Amino acid sequence: MAAAGGGGAHGCPAVLLASGRSIPVLGLGTSHQGGYSHDAVVHALQKCGIRHIDTAKRYGCESLLQKAIKESGVKREDLWITSKLWHSDYGYESTTKACLESCERLGVDYLGLCRSIGVSNFLISHLEQLKEDCVITPHVNQVEYHPFQRPQELVDYCRSRDIVFEGYCPLAKGEALTHPSITQLAKKYGRTPAQICIRWSIQNGIVTIPKSTKAERIQENCKVFDFTIAEDDVEILNGMHDGRHVSWDPSLIV
Ligand SMILES: NC(=O)c1ccc[n+]([C@@H]2O[C@H](COP(=O)([O-])OP(=O)(O)OC[C@H]3O[C@@H](n4cnc5c(N)ncnc54)[C@H](OP(=O)(O)O)[C@@H]3O)[C@@H](O)[C@H]2O)c1
Repeated sequence: MAAAGGGGAHGCPAVLLASGRSIPVLGLGTSHQGGYSHDAVVHALQKCGIRHIDTAKRYGCESLLQKAIKESGVKREDLWITSKLWHSDYGYESTTKACLESCERLGVDYLGLCRSIGVSNFLISHLEQLKEDCVITPHVNQVEYHPFQRPQELVDYCRSRDIVFEGYCPLAKGEALTHPSITQLAKKYGRTPAQICIRWSIQNGIVTIPKSTKAERIQENCKVFDFTIAEDDVEILNGMHDGRHVSWDPSLIV
């Protein structure tokens, strides 16, 4: 993981990591699932003020992102880019090589070598194990986080160790958008269900990376810095946790 840069997306604040770098609280997800849209990424960067992009070697779109970033005209130093390696890249030599390859595909000269280091899908047990094996505490932990999946104990643990919690699948891959409590709150605030989910993550102090391949939805997802969800409504959303995973369950990894 890595990079510099400040805010972005219509007043989007940034969170300071233990690495000394700041990550914008709202980023754009990309993926190998559900497609990739060059035009949507360019739109996000040029028109929506997005300055944080999440990708991974596994998503197979790093070289496509290179083209979109170039076309957008956004400077590298103004952009936070997270990429993720696969577990087959574990180990110093392999990780270094994989980071350099990601940089090459992305057309950037840093990330690897990394300015900030993150892990993904690490539960408390995994982070405890990491503490035994490594001297560096990760700066970020990227984990599934949406109204049906709010792992508060893990969030608290990460905070206690100065690891910034980054939530993926903030819309529960779209599953949250039709839940009656969320559609009701959307109506109450005159917002969309997606905006309610994203705003809720941010108000809970979570860095969040909704994905869309559609320019108008990215625009919508970025308009979350001009309203506040009242505390009792945040509590309604907090109470929706039922433990379901829409991605996968990292507790199966020992
Ligand atoms: N570290 C990990 O293991 C891991 C795992 C999963 C995901 N991630 C990261 O997290 C990002 C987000 O996760 P995700 O894509 O799985 O889930 P998500 O962001 O919760 O949901 C994305 C889905 O919602 C739709 N959508 C987006 N905005 C919308 C809106 N305003 N209204 C209605 N529908 C909307 C998208 O469709 P359209 O594209 O058609 O708009 C897509 O089907 C990924 O791109 C990836 O970067 C990381």
